[in-house]
Amino acid sequence: MGTTLSTSRPRPGRPRSRVRLVTIGLAAAILAVPSAVAAADDAGAPQAPGDSLRAIAAREGLRIGTAVDMAKLGTDTAYTSVVADQFSVVTPENVMKWDAVEPTRGTYDWQAADRLVSFAEQHDQLVRGHTLMWHNQLPGWLTSGVADGSIGTAELRDILHQHVTDEVGHFRGRIWQWDVANEVFANSWDSHPLADGVNGDDFWVQHLGEGVIADVFRWAHQADPKALLMYNDYNITGEDGTNAKFQAVYDFVKRLRAQGVPIDGIGEQGHLDTQYGFDPQTFQADLQAFGDLGLKVAVTEADVRTFVSGTGADEVPTDQLAAFAQPYEFSAMLTGCRLVRQCISFTAWGVDDGDSWIPNTFSGEGYGLLYDARLRPKQAYFALRQDLLLGLSAHRTDG
Ligand code: G3I
Repeated sequence: MGTTLSTSRPRPGRPRSRVRLVTIGLAAAILAVPSAVAAADDAGAPQAPGDSLRAIAAREGLRIGTAVDMAKLGTDTAYTSVVADQFSVVTPENVMKWDAVEPTRGTYDWQAADRLVSFAEQHDQLVRGHTLMWHNQLPGWLTSGVADGSIGTAELRDILHQHVTDEVGHFRGRIWQWDVANEVFANSWDSHPLADGVNGDDFWVQHLGEGVIADVFRWAHQADPKALLMYNDYNITGEDGTNAKFQAVYDFVKRLRAQGVPIDGIGEQGHLDTQYGFDPQTFQADLQAFGDLGLKVAVTEADVRTFVSGTGADEVPTDQLAAFAQPYEFSAMLTGCRLVRQCISFTAWGVDDGDSWIPNTFSGEGYGLLYDARLRPKQAYFALRQDLLLGLSAHRTDG
């Protein structure tokens, strides 16, 4: 049975009862340790459908998701079962990116992306499209054409317009949220922030000016008026301790919406590292501030990395406190989302530690996800599950 967006999208602002959620992330994470250790030894132990993250979260109108590696979906049966059973929204980790869908100019390859969307519709899942305009994973023909001057500014703008129109049009009516623009704002360490905080060194801003951000949202809306159009970025809920990037995005999106630009929501990626600490209050307050603008919010790429010894299923945090901090910070992000009515989904950036981007990007780090490399649920999985269950048993103010 396919999932029809018009009926299955969460209603605006989750229809959650006024459950006074108790932010007990740390306690839940610590309490989860014994059960997690026990459960982790029962890798693959059958779980009643009603006990899955997606089922428990559905009771409060929240969708729990994961990024999906299409090299494993449908070929690795255990992986495929976890994706189907535990998550109610899926994001293609890579196969909707420009280098994947148009490796040769004018020739599209939708096969892997179509397979994910079909899988989602067969499993009552919604799809987050990821991502239309990003400086990374661009096809070689485009970057080399710009570099050698054979693609000039006017043509580059037409190419981008065509890409957004073709990709959003191809999936019209089948994508719940699109990450329309990704990571175009400057971090405190970037060299050329513009006055409004946009990153002047971003490939698209550099070549087409920052007006292109509003343009891609307009083009995406024309191609699929029903999709939720999100601005997606990391470090926009105070993760680096300054909150400056949050303020820049907040002011920018508020201004564009006042101009009628069709921006529906904000994706906070949620890539954390236990070495930096985490401030759940700022995280939640910033999500709420975006919500108070009338925007939907989503946590779109959650993972909590830490330094490890060993590799794969033998990854062990080198800092023994990280064994608690990792599930705690995952739990705190979920709690922050759940306490903001406009937070419609919470997505982990991958299923298991054996398939995470982290080790290839942050040398010596890993352990970032909910499952280990043998697809055994970790403490973070049980912390989220316990949060969701306890959230139901907390004092209900509406009887
Ligand atoms: O497809 C090629 C393959 O043909 C080649 O043989 C192989 C070896 O070079 O590389 C493959 O491409 C890799 C691609 O993932 C697909 O697997 C790239 O090298 C690799 O760099 C790329 O990494 C992805 C990364 O984005 C690129 O920036 C990660 O899987 C993906 O998890 C990560 O996700 C991003 C989000 O899209 C945006 N937010 C940040 C997040 C983490 O960087």
